[in-house]
Amino acid sequence: MEKMSITFLALVVLGCASTTMPIAAQSGSTPKDGELIFPADYKSYAAFLHGIQKSDAVRDLYINPTGASAEAGQPFANGSILVMEIYNAKKNAEGTLEKGADGNLVKADLAKVFVMQKDAGWGKHARENLKNGDWIYSGFKANGERLDVDYTTCRGCHLPLGASKDFVHRYDEYFEKRIQAAH
Ligand code: HEC
Repeated sequence: MEKMSITFLALVVLGCASTTMPIAAQSGSTPKDGELIFPADYKSYAAFLHGIQKSDAVRDLYINPTGASAEAGQPFANGSILVMEIYNAKKNAEGTLEKGADGNLVKADLAKVFVMQKDAGWGKHARENLKNGDWIYSGFKANGERLDVDYTTCRGCHLPLGASKDFVHRYDEYFEKRIQAAH
């Protein structure tokens, strides 16, 4: 009888774990950098910011609905996913960067997709001086295959933003644009 109830309890616990298991967790454990699942439906997310001009690339940023529920001044909620598409900029036959009528670079092929996603306790694996809250980082090819990346570079470059911007580079710009769009 006692044995049966323990088995029953184990089933209940396992059942709960599988329904609440975060989307990115691999075999029930907390994901580390490089282990996020490619958010294949990210194009259906809201625009975080689009058309960011770099020297030879164009970047489009997306945010999932949980992320978009954040208010200015708050950190993003657990379950937030931020996606950054990195497009090569179009070059002409001579190898010079082309500009569109608006003076902006023109998107060519999608080179990479960078993702950061957070959930409760996910930051625990990060190295002590590289803890960016509970964000975990992953880089993918355009087709969703994982890239071999040194993830300390992601952390090192996002760390200086600090907890007040939730380690998100375009934090202020996102909320400013969102407020403008609402008016
Ligand atoms: C050299 C600094 C640098 C490194 C390294 C870096 N990032 Fe970023 N990241 C930025 C900047 C700057 C932005 C803002 C968009 C822009 O200006 O290109 C950004 C934006 C992002 C965003 C959109 C949210 C935001 O912060 O605005 C995601 C997602 C992201 N990076 C993921 C990654 C991942 C994953 C890696 C590692 C594979 C990484 N980044 C490495 C500088 C960096």
